[in-house]
Amino acid sequence: MAVTNFELLLLLGTLSISGFSATSYSTEVSFLQCFSSNLQHPNEASNVLLTTNSSNYSSVLQSSIRNHRFLNNSTLKPQFIITPSHVSHIQAAIRCSKQNGLQVRVRSAGHDYEGLSYVADVPFLIIDLFNLRSIRVDIENESAWVESGATLGELYHKIAEKSKLYGFPAGSCSTVGVGGHFSGGGFGTIFRKYGLAADNIIDAKIVDVNGKILTRKSMGEDLFWAIRGGGGASFGVIFSWKVKIVPVPQTVTVFNVRYTLEQGASKLLQKWQNVAHELDEDIFLHAVLEVADSTTSSAGSNKTVLVSFGSLYLGGVEKLVSLLQESFPQLGLMRENCTEMTWIQSVLYFAGFSTKDSLNVLLDRSTQYKGFLKAKSDYLTKPVSETGLEGLYRILLEEEAPVLILTPYGGRMSEISDSEIAFPHRKGNIYAIQYLTNWDEEDETEKHISSMRRLYKYMKPYVSKAPRAAYLNYRDLDLGRNNNAGNSSYAQAYVWGLKYFKNNFKRLVRVKTAVDPDNFFRNEQSIPVFP
Ligand SMILES: Cc1cc2nc3c(=O)[nH]c(=O)nc-3n(C[C@H](O)[C@H](O)[C@H](O)COP(=O)(O)OP(=O)(O)OC[C@H]3O[C@@H](n4cnc5c(N)ncnc54)[C@H](O)[C@@H]3O)c2cc1C
Ligand SMILES: *[C@@H]1O[C@H](CO)[C@@H](O)[C@H](O)[C@H]1NC(C)=O
Ligand SMILES: *[C@@H]1O[C@H](CO)[C@@H](O)[C@H](O)[C@H]1NC(C)=O
Ligand SMILES: *[C@@H]1O[C@H](CO)[C@@H](O)[C@H](O)[C@H]1NC(C)=O
Ligand SMILES: *[C@@H]1O[C@H](CO)[C@@H](O)[C@H](O)[C@H]1NC(C)=O
Ligand SMILES: *[C@@H]1O[C@H](CO)[C@@H](O)[C@H](O)[C@H]1NC(C)=O
Ligand SMILES: *[C@@H]1O[C@H](CO)[C@@H](O)[C@H](O)[C@H]1NC(C)=O
Ligand SMILES: *[C@@H]1O[C@H](CO)[C@@H](O)[C@H](O)[C@H]1NC(C)=O
Ligand SMILES: *[C@@H]1O[C@H](CO)[C@@H](O)[C@H](O)[C@H]1NC(C)=O
Repeated sequence: MAVTNFELLLLLGTLSISGFSATSYSTEVSFLQCFSSNLQHPNEASNVLLTTNSSNYSSVLQSSIRNHRFLNNSTLKPQFIITPSHVSHIQAAIRCSKQNGLQVRVRSAGHDYEGLSYVADVPFLIIDLFNLRSIRVDIENESAWVESGATLGELYHKIAEKSKLYGFPAGSCSTVGVGGHFSGGGFGTIFRKYGLAADNIIDAKIVDVNGKILTRKSMGEDLFWAIRGGGGASFGVIFSWKVKIVPVPQTVTVFNVRYTLEQGASKLLQKWQNVAHELDEDIFLHAVLEVADSTTSSAGSNKTVLVSFGSLYLGGVEKLVSLLQESFPQLGLMRENCTEMTWIQSVLYFAGFSTKDSLNVLLDRSTQYKGFLKAKSDYLTKPVSETGLEGLYRILLEEEAPVLILTPYGGRMSEISDSEIAFPHRKGNIYAIQYLTNWDEEDETEKHISSMRRLYKYMKPYVSKAPRAAYLNYRDLDLGRNNNAGNSSYAQAYVWGLKYFKNNFKRLVRVKTAVDPDNFFRNEQSIPVFP
């Protein structure tokens, strides 16, 4: 539909002329013209498009920036933020970005550890999906349609509203976005029984590089395979997902027991490494390592390493205690250490809320934690030796207090083949490690990042090799990055592609080459195309 000069003028009225060079200004004008002419009603543009001059540009931009490393003044800002309330707005944004040489970053809830959903080194715009977050749960069909801009908290809340006997196997943090999480894998406290979020996707809707809407049927099984674990950002904008919801019992049990090194944590952790992945699939038992003040101040140091064993069991306390007394008696778990609750209360618990809180806290999209962070990941196929662990404790006590979260695999995760979907880390892995460090001041960035890199280097002999595998959703640009020209070769991208995707990398490149041959959807770690 044609835009009248008057309508275009209205849009341009919100453009800051001062800030732009002549070329970028004309790009802006041309983009705006294209965008409004691609909408059903050109005046919709003012509701869904923000320019750098719009009064709510900054608040929308910052609303889901989860990592302050990318909130400084030297970070390049998007020329536009599109906040679609209808899929046609996504289609228009893609067509017009392509036409005007703007790169697109898609943001669902902004948890990307390296900010790839809202930071770029080239002129770009953000398609921010926070207004596309409707959720329809169909208990009878044991399924739900959920839009990408929804958070995990919103999804859990909606399912619980319909039934306390269903849940969904995805991550613990309630503010994480469906779009990034599902397309990168997504695991949580019931993944040993039900697999990843991505394993439970049965349909999806995507806007492709031509602005066309495709469903599972029309996109074909290759693309549908790729967007389950291969990351959405390389392939298009997935705006809605159909998932299987899964049964949960009326009563579940949680516990968190903590031991310091002085209290024998090391022996327990050694045992944990051998048993956690072999436990009944109804038991999730992770281990969190962090530095804490020592109470029994041993000679020289007043710091110690604290290991917390946290668990969710899909069943009642009696059964859990007896299962663990059999397989992990050293843990000394007693009835008194456990709390029974409903599954949705356990969601609150693992998201860091009180189990007595109203379920509405799950709807709060504003993040609890805002600060600087850096994370990395590893997979382990065998336990770390005793001397390896001792060295790890020394490093933790020396460095800038990173936290390690050890997540056991096994169960359902070992039954699904590596190539079933694009997420490849299955059988043979006993656990995964997330290394995480947080800080509050910009001038501490260097210190924390180099501390994290030393720790990662130290762990090399103990973790998976050839490749040293990594989890895409724990994005780490230290593993490598594409060049800005957007023409990185297969060999360049293989360096990190193999770590994230193992033998699935090649198929991902084939799919990418077929669906986006000009590499329009790209970022620092997107899948490259074959020449
Ligand atoms: C506090 C916190 C807790 C976490 N907890 C867990 C956990 O328990 N389990 C777990 O597995 N992971 C966890 N993660 C990692 C999380 O799964 C990833 O960061 C995930 O990618 C975030 O999704 P998002 O939509 O919020 O992120 P975004 O930053 O919006 O997106 C991440 C990436 O996906 C792309 N993308 C987003 N939406 C779309 C879309 N609709 N179509 C195409 N591409 C898209 C973005 O462009 C970007 O490249 C956690 C992260 C944080 C910060
Ligand atoms: C856009 O920015 C310019 C320069 O800062 C300002 O003069 C103008 O009033 C702004 N326009 C709107 C609509 O805010
Ligand atoms: C910007 O904010 C105004 C008022 O707060 C609101 O009416 C408008 O819809 C917002 N625009 C966008 C694109 O979010
Ligand atoms: C960024 O710039 C704005 C104004 O240009 C200023 O108010 C703010 O303090 C700056 N922030 C940082 C972190 O330097
Ligand atoms: C500022 O942000 C950019 C990314 O936009 C990042 O590369 C850089 O490290 C940040 N600067 C600091 C001091 O954190
Ligand atoms: C849902 O299940 C009913 C039967 O229980 C079936 O008739 C219907 O086709 C299903 N709908 C979908 C969308 O699968
Ligand atoms: C488990 O509970 C018992 C009994 O209340 C308590 O003595 C013990 O300290 C608890 N164990 C841990 C590790 O918290
Ligand atoms: C631990 O020791 C350091 C230096 O030895 C001291 O600065 C710090 O205050 C001590 N912390 C506690 C909790 O005692
Ligand atoms: C990418 O393009 C640049 C310049 O456009 C060129 O110098 C470089 O060799 C190209 N790289 C590859 C891998 O094709």
